[in-house]
Amino acid sequence: MLPASLLLVYTFISAWFLGTTLTKDMRMDAVFPPVVVPSDSGLPGGHLLPLGCQRQPDGPVKEYAEPLTPLEFWDRHARDYVPLVYRQAVTKAPAVVNWRSDEYIREKYGDLDVLVEKKNEDRASRPHRMSLSEFLDNYQREDWYVVSLLPDPMRAEMQVPRSLLCGTFKKNILESNLWLSAGGTKSLLHYDADHNLHCLITGRKDFIMIDSKYEDLLDMDQKKQHSGSSFSHLDMDRIDLLAHPQVAAVPWTWATLLPGDCIFIPAGYFHQVRSYGRSVAATIMWAPLKNFNDSDCATADIDAYTSLSDVQLQWTYKKGDKSIDMGFMDVEILRQAFLEIMADRHSTKFTKELLAHYYEFAVVDEEEDGEIDEEDLKVVNKMFGVLDKDKIGYVTRQELENLDVEVLKDVARILDEPHGPVTENDDVNTRDVHTGDVTTREEL
Ligand SMILES: *[C@@H]1O[C@H](CO)[C@@H](O)[C@H](O)[C@H]1NC(C)=O
Repeated sequence: MLPASLLLVYTFISAWFLGTTLTKDMRMDAVFPPVVVPSDSGLPGGHLLPLGCQRQPDGPVKEYAEPLTPLEFWDRHARDYVPLVYRQAVTKAPAVVNWRSDEYIREKYGDLDVLVEKKNEDRASRPHRMSLSEFLDNYQREDWYVVSLLPDPMRAEMQVPRSLLCGTFKKNILESNLWLSAGGTKSLLHYDADHNLHCLITGRKDFIMIDSKYEDLLDMDQKKQHSGSSFSHLDMDRIDLLAHPQVAAVPWTWATLLPGDCIFIPAGYFHQVRSYGRSVAATIMWAPLKNFNDSDCATADIDAYTSLSDVQLQWTYKKGDKSIDMGFMDVEILRQAFLEIMADRHSTKFTKELLAHYYEFAVVDEEEDGEIDEEDLKVVNKMFGVLDKDKIGYVTRQELENLDVEVLKDVARILDEPHGPVTENDDVNTRDVHTGDVTTREEL
C-alpha cells in the first residue's frame, strides 16, 4: 500500500503532467501561416524549420461564405482541380453540437469499429482496428488517430453541403471518412487519387496546399508514381534546405478550418495538415470526372437540408462488417473500363483474357517489371470467377452493364486488397501490394 500522502502526490503529478500535455495539444492559437524570417547565418532562411517557413505563402485558399451551386462548383473548381474553402458550410449538422462530447459518441456509437493510426503519419505502419469506445477510453494519452470510414449510423448527423447535391457529384460519392483525435496530428505532404471535401466538426486544422505541378521538387516516393496517390519523404518539421534547396521555390497557399468549415482538396493536389486540440472531421470523397451531367439539377432541391444518410455512398461500414473498406476505387469506373476494353477489341464478350489485359494495363504496368506473372494470373482468375458466376467463360456486355455494384465491389476487393485489418485484433499484414497505399491515410 502506498501511504496516502504519496498517492496524493502521485495523483497530483500525473494530473499536472496530463494537464500540460493537454494544454500543449490544445493550443488553438498556434501561429499559422508561420512568420518567415530571413536568415542571418548564411544558411537559407527556414532551413531545418517546419514546412511553410521557407517562403511566404501566395495567400489563403479562395474562400466562400456560402457554398456554390453544383454547376458553379464544377465550373470554377472541380473541373480544373482548384481548391476552395467554404466557411460555415455544415453548421446545421447535429454532429457540430453532439460530437463535441465523447460521452455522446461513446453512448450512441461506442460499439462501432474504426481504424486507428498514429498521430504523426507513418506510411510504414499499419492501422489498428478497435471499437470507438476503446478508442475514446484511451485516446487522450495514446498516440492514436481515428482515420476510418464514417460508420453508417453516424452519417445521419453529418450534413452534405449543397455543392454536391445534384448531377454527377451526388451520384458518385465514393465514401465518407471520420477523423478524430486529441490534437497534435501531423500528416505528411501528400496527395490522394480522389477529390475530397474535408469538413471540420470540432477543433482546428491548418492546411498547406501545393499545386500538383510541383511534384518534381518535393522528394516524392517513387514506388507509387502512377497509382493516383503518393507522399513526400520531406520531414515536415525540419525541411533540410541544403539537401532540398528547391523546396524554397515552391509556391503554396494556406487555410485554417474551424468548426463548420470545409476545404475542397482536389485529387492530386498536395496538402499537409496539422490539428490542434480535440478534433473531429468528416470527409466526402469522389473520383475526378471528365464531365458533369447536370440533367437532374433543374429539379433537385439543393437547399433542402441533406444528411450523409440521404445520399448514396459506394463504400460504407456498419456494425458486423468484416472489413472496413476504406480508400477503394470507384467501381463504376472499373465497369466503364471493362466496357471500353470490349469496345476496343470489338468483342461482344468480356473474357478472362480481356480482364488480364485490363489487369496488366492498370496494375502490373505500374510495377517495376511490367510483366504479368503467375501470381497476377491467380488474382485475375479469382476476379473473373466473381464476374462469371455461371462459369460459362464470358460475361456479355448487357450483363456487365447491369452487374450489381456489390459484385463489382467484390472484384475491387480482390484487385486491391483490404487496406486495414479485416477482423478485430487482426493486425497481420499479409498483403502483397498491388495497388493503392499500404496505409489508409489516402484521403486526408
Ligand atoms: C445524364 O444523366 C441522365 C440521368 O441519369 C441520363 O439519362 C443521361 O443520359 C445523362 N447524359 C449524358 C450526356 O450522359
